[in-house]
Amino acid sequence: MSSKPLPPLDHIPANIAAVEDYAAYARERMTPSAWAYIEGAAADEVTSRENLAAFQRLRLQQRVLTDMAGATTRLTLLGQQFDYPIFLAPVAYHKLAHTTGEIGTVQAASAMGAGMVVSAQASIRLEEIAASAHTPLWYQLYIQPDRDFTLQLVRRAEAAGYQALVLTVDAPVTGIRNQEQRAGFALPADIQAVNLHGSMAPAHVAQPGTSPIFGSTLLTGAPTWQDVQWLVQHTRLPVLLKGITHPEDAELGLDYGAAGIIVSNHGGRTLDTLPATIDMLPGIARAVNGRAPLLLDGGIRRGSDVFKALALGANAVLVGRPYIYALAAAGAAGIAHVLHILRTELEVTMALAGTPTLADIGPHSLSTLTRAVGQYRLTA
Ligand code: FNR
Ligand code: LAC
Repeated sequence: MSSKPLPPLDHIPANIAAVEDYAAYARERMTPSAWAYIEGAAADEVTSRENLAAFQRLRLQQRVLTDMAGATTRLTLLGQQFDYPIFLAPVAYHKLAHTTGEIGTVQAASAMGAGMVVSAQASIRLEEIAASAHTPLWYQLYIQPDRDFTLQLVRRAEAAGYQALVLTVDAPVTGIRNQEQRAGFALPADIQAVNLHGSMAPAHVAQPGTSPIFGSTLLTGAPTWQDVQWLVQHTRLPVLLKGITHPEDAELGLDYGAAGIIVSNHGGRTLDTLPATIDMLPGIARAVNGRAPLLLDGGIRRGSDVFKALALGANAVLVGRPYIYALAAAGAAGIAHVLHILRTELEVTMALAGTPTLADIGPHSLSTLTRAVGQYRLTA
C-alpha cells in the first residue's frame, strides 16, 4: 500500500540547509511513480551517480588575503546579462511536482534573476510561461520528424520573447528507463506536453519478432547535422546544442552554426555508463577553445560544483533535479531557496579561493593534489 503524497510545505523548515536536503521532502510529496520518473535515470543509473561522484573527487585550491572588493558573479552570455552562472535546466512536466507547474518555476527564476530553459515537454503553454517571466528564457526543443511542426514551435517561441533555442541532441530515442518501468510510471491524464499537441511525434510500438528500434519512424525521421544547419538558418535566435559529450561533436556543432554548446548526458537518463559530465568537460573545452559559450549540466548539487565546472572551462551551469525536488517540496519558494543556496555557496567558494570574478576561476583553482591533474589541461 502506498500512502497518499503529503501536501507541499507552507514554510521552509530550518533543517533544509543544502540543496540535497530537499530530496526527502520531495519524495514524500510525490507519487512513487512520479518520483521514479524524476529521480530515475537509465538502466543501472551508473552515469547518474557518477555525475555527482566525479564532482566530489575534485579538490579545490584555497588562496588567502586576496582583495575581494568589487567581487561579482555577473556574466554575459550570447549578449544577455546574468547575475550568476546558474540556470534552471529544461525538465519535462513540472506539474508532476507541483500544481503550479512551470508558472511556479518561472516566478522563482524571475524573483532570483536566474536564467531558465523551458522544456519542449512543459506542462503549461510556452506563451503563458513567458507572460509570467521577468528573466531571460530559453526554449528547449527537439527537431521533430514533422519539420513544419518544429518550425511552428520555433515561431511561437520567437513571438513569445524567448531569447535562445536549446536543441537537445542526445535523445533521438528514450533511454532504457528501468526504474520508471518497475514503478509503472505513466503520465496522469491531466498532465500533458501541451505545446506538442498536433505534432506527429511517433508512437512507436514494436511488434514481436521485428526490429524494436531500427527502421522505425523514430530513427528514420531523426535529425542529423544538416538539420542543425537547417534550424540555425530558419531562426533569428541563437541555437545551443544540448547533450554534447565528444570534442568532435562540439566542433561539428560550431561548424554547423551552433551558437553554444551544453555538455550534458541528460542527467544519466539516456545512455547509461557514459562518463560524468565534469570529467568530459576539459576535452570539450579544449575543442571549443573559447569560440562559443560552453555550459554543463549533470550532478550540480553545490555552489562548489558550479565553481569546479567553471574551473574546467564552463561559462555557466544548469541544474535539473534539485530545483524539481524543491518545487515538489515547497513550490516556487523552494526553487528560490535552492537558487539562493547555490549562489551563496558559489560566492563563499570564490571568496575562499581568492577569485573575485568568474574570469579569475581556472584550472589553477583546483588543487594539484587532485587525481590525474594532467587530464585537466585546458590548452593544447
Ligand atoms: C530532464 N532533462 C531534460 N532535458 C531536455 O533537454 N528536455 C527535457 O524535457 C528534459 N526532461 C527531463 C525530465 C527530468 C525529470 C529530468 C530529471 C531531466 C535533462 C535535464 O535538462 C538535465 O540535463 C539534467 O537533469 C541534469 O542533471 P541533474 O542536474 O538532474 O543531475
Ligand atoms: C526525460 C525527457 C523528457 O529525460 O527528456 O524524461
